[in-house]
Parts: sequence; structure tokens; C-alpha cells
Amino acid sequence: MHTVAIRSVRWSLGLIVPVLCAGSWAGGAEAPAPPKLTAQQDHRNMMEQLGITSLRPGAEGMNAKAPNYANYDEAKANPYPNLPDPLTLKNGQKVTTAETWWNQRRPEIVEDFDREVYGRVPPNVPKVTWEVTGTTEETDANIPVVTKKLVGHVDNSSYPAITVDIQLTLTTPAKATGPVPVMMEFGFAWPGGFGPGRGNRPGATTASRGPAGPFGGGGPTWQQQVLAKGWGYAILVPNSIQADSGAGLTSGIIGLVNKGRPRKPDDWGALRAWAWGASRALDYFETDKAVDATQVGIEGLSRYGKAALVAMAYDQRFAIGFIGSSGEGGAKLHRRNWGELVENLTGSGEYHWMAGNFLKYGGPLNAGDLPVDAHELIAMCAPRPTFISYGAMSGPGAEGGWVDQKGSFMAAVAAGPVYKLLGKRDLGTAEYPPRETGLMDGELAFREHSGGHTTGPNWPTFLTWADRYIKIREP
Ligand code: GCU
Repeated sequence: MHTVAIRSVRWSLGLIVPVLCAGSWAGGAEAPAPPKLTAQQDHRNMMEQLGITSLRPGAEGMNAKAPNYANYDEAKANPYPNLPDPLTLKNGQKVTTAETWWNQRRPEIVEDFDREVYGRVPPNVPKVTWEVTGTTEETDANIPVVTKKLVGHVDNSSYPAITVDIQLTLTTPAKATGPVPVMMEFGFAWPGGFGPGRGNRPGATTASRGPAGPFGGGGPTWQQQVLAKGWGYAILVPNSIQADSGAGLTSGIIGLVNKGRPRKPDDWGALRAWAWGASRALDYFETDKAVDATQVGIEGLSRYGKAALVAMAYDQRFAIGFIGSSGEGGAKLHRRNWGELVENLTGSGEYHWMAGNFLKYGGPLNAGDLPVDAHELIAMCAPRPTFISYGAMSGPGAEGGWVDQKGSFMAAVAAGPVYKLLGKRDLGTAEYPPRETGLMDGELAFREHSGGHTTGPNWPTFLTWADRYIKIREP
């Protein structure tokens, strides 16, 4: 099997790469089409670049009889109990001042995440020009709203064979007297997508409805809850920035910057690309008078919960983060052996989320060798308010343990000292809280709701907590 894959990748790269590397294409003639690699071929190519001959299999999530079935035994959950200290410099010195955090330690952590975990955003990413392609006025739960449909055209003059048009919608209350705070979600579909379990409006999932309330039916959607506060919301479409597959790495924004060539080991993966797209949406909000761009929050679930955390960590303009069920590659400690593992992320189905270098930790190295862990990604969000959200670990309709609620809680606890150094409050305890008992007193917050794989039931708690930080400013 592997031999065939290697041969075909050599064949395709051998044929195409020299053409692209020659750099002779200057924009006049037709741009050469990007090579078409399958995820398996691109994954194999990255292994070859790294000199890796084999990777360990990930944890099996479904079949409890499989020998590699995911671990759910606390006794085996912490094979690497020592986390890298976010407040010790690489030279061994302790970080005791905010200044040292900002000027020395945080940049060290960023560099490690860039190189080994999520990859670097290249310095020459082309400009994005935003176009409003449509405006609609309607009412949602009796609130008049204006929705702008936007497309962010990425300048592809350096490689016209790849087009990237970022899709975004922005909905704000029509009667607002000034710029409003906005919650932006990494949505699953646009426009009016009908993905599994999804409603007929962008990002509106039936599961995202809160408890029954004044709006009747199953309770207001998260969008209605946000509008009721006088805020707006935005839905960003990740796949319009970067496809969610290894086969897509030679197209989308990553492929465009690489002129259709496969990634180098420290190039960005899809999570970093999606987060980059969120930052470009924020650039647009800075130009739109309807939005208070100093009060924009980012939210996402699952792989988009990971992306929301990466966006929040890297772009300090995001004012608040709502990180839904982000699990492995998100808020969960890589070092925890519970549910999904590093080895799942390094497989050909998920490696595209990460930097190529991350593959090393599923083969020659392991999770304990990572120079950074998830607590330091959360620490990069400090001092800004960050809410780590999960569904129920067990019970009827539960989310289950694949996402490792406890390992994510442990990461948030270990990020606490950085929040405190910067004068903010941490979770306030190192003991895992009971279901539906939110730890909401500080800028770091955590809550396990009683539902499944959704942020829905946590929206009311999130918004009550967010009220402390996000305020409508009088014009
Ligand atoms: C899989 C994957 C997770 C991911 C999730 C999702 O379950 O293992 O890491 O978060 O898909 O995005 O739905």
C-alpha cells in the first residue's frame, strides 16, 4: 500500500515541482494548475520531508474492543505529568513581571507553537479586499436587523490558478445608535447551509438554542440571545479560507501563498489559516461603522473551537473567546492520555490542521517531547476573558470523553498563573467542578453543560459572564 503511495507521490511531485520551482512563471501566461495530491500522498510527502518512516496509530474512538481503543482510565491518563512552565524562560529564569512575560516569555511560547504545532503564517500573505455583496433587512425574534453578506477577495496576482474568496456575514441590530460589540462564529455552512442538524440560517443550529425562554419554542438561538443584548453577530466560513482536508493544502490560502506547492514542515496548517481568516474579518470590522471592533469575540465548536482558541491566542485584538469542545489540538493537554491523542492529529485525516513538524510527535517523538502544551496556548490569550466550554462527559445525550473535558480543565488551571501575573483572576480552583457548575468568577472561565457536542446550552452562561467585560459604548 505504502509503496504505491510513495511511488505515486514521487511521480506527481517529480513531474510538477520542478515546473513550479523554476519560478519562471511571471504572471503573463496562464498560471500552471496546482498539483493534485490526495491527503495520503501529501501526508506521505511531509513524512519524507521530515525523514519519518512510521507513525503510531491514533486512539480508536468507536470500537471499544479495538486494542487501541481510547483510554478513559484516570490511572493511565497522565503519562507525562510535568507540564512546561509558562512562567520559566528557556534560560531557566523565572518570569516575575508582566514586562518579562510580554517581551521575552510569550514570544518564546509563540515561536514554539509556530514552529512545532500550528505552523507559521508566511510573511508575504497577500492582501484581502472586502466587498459587500448584498444587504438584507429583516426581523429576528422581533428585533429589526441588517445583514451584510461579505466576500473577502484575496489578491491572487502572484498565482491566479488559485482563487480564495472568504465568505462572511455580519448581522447587527438595525436600531443601534452606534457601533456594537459582535460575536463571530466559525460557521459550518453558508449561505443558509443545510448541514447535519443545522437550521436554515447561517450558523443557526437547533442545538445552539438555549433553554426555553421569552422567545418561545425551544428558547432563543444564540444569535437571538446576542441581538437581545444589542450586540451583533458574524458567521465566517472556514472552508472558504482553507479546505478541511490534506488534499486541499495545495489550494486555499495555504496553497495560494505556496503557489500550489506542498507545505514545508513549519508552514501553517488549516487551524492557523482559519484563524488568519478571522483576523482578516476583524480588519473589515475595523472599517465598518456598525461594529465596535475593540469588542469583537470569537466562538467555535470542535475543530472550529480549536480554531477559535488559536485565533484568540494569536490576535490580541479579539476581546473575548468562547471555546467550544475544542479537545485535542485545542484546549486539551496534548500530554493527557484520554480520548483523542496527538497520534490522531498526526494521521492523514487530521494532520492538515497542524504544522507538518507536528507529525514528529506521533512518530520519533511523543507528546511529552512537545516544547509547549495547551495551557500555554490558553496563556497566550491572557489577560483577555476566555471561556472554555464542554458538554457532558457521560450520561444520556452526553458529549462523551473523546474531547477530554478534564484535560482541558487542567490546561486552564495551568494557564492561571499567567492571568494572575497580568492582574486577572484564574479559575479559582484546581478541582474539577460538577456539571452545570460554571467557574465564572474570573477572566478564565470553565463550564461543563449537560448536553452534547455543542456550545448551545452554555450561551446564556457565557453571555452573563461576558457582560462584565463587553459593554455597548454610547456614541
Ligand atoms: C473529530 C475529531 C476532533 C474534532 C471533531 C470535530 O471528532 O477527532 O478533533 O474536534 O471531529 O471537529 O467535529
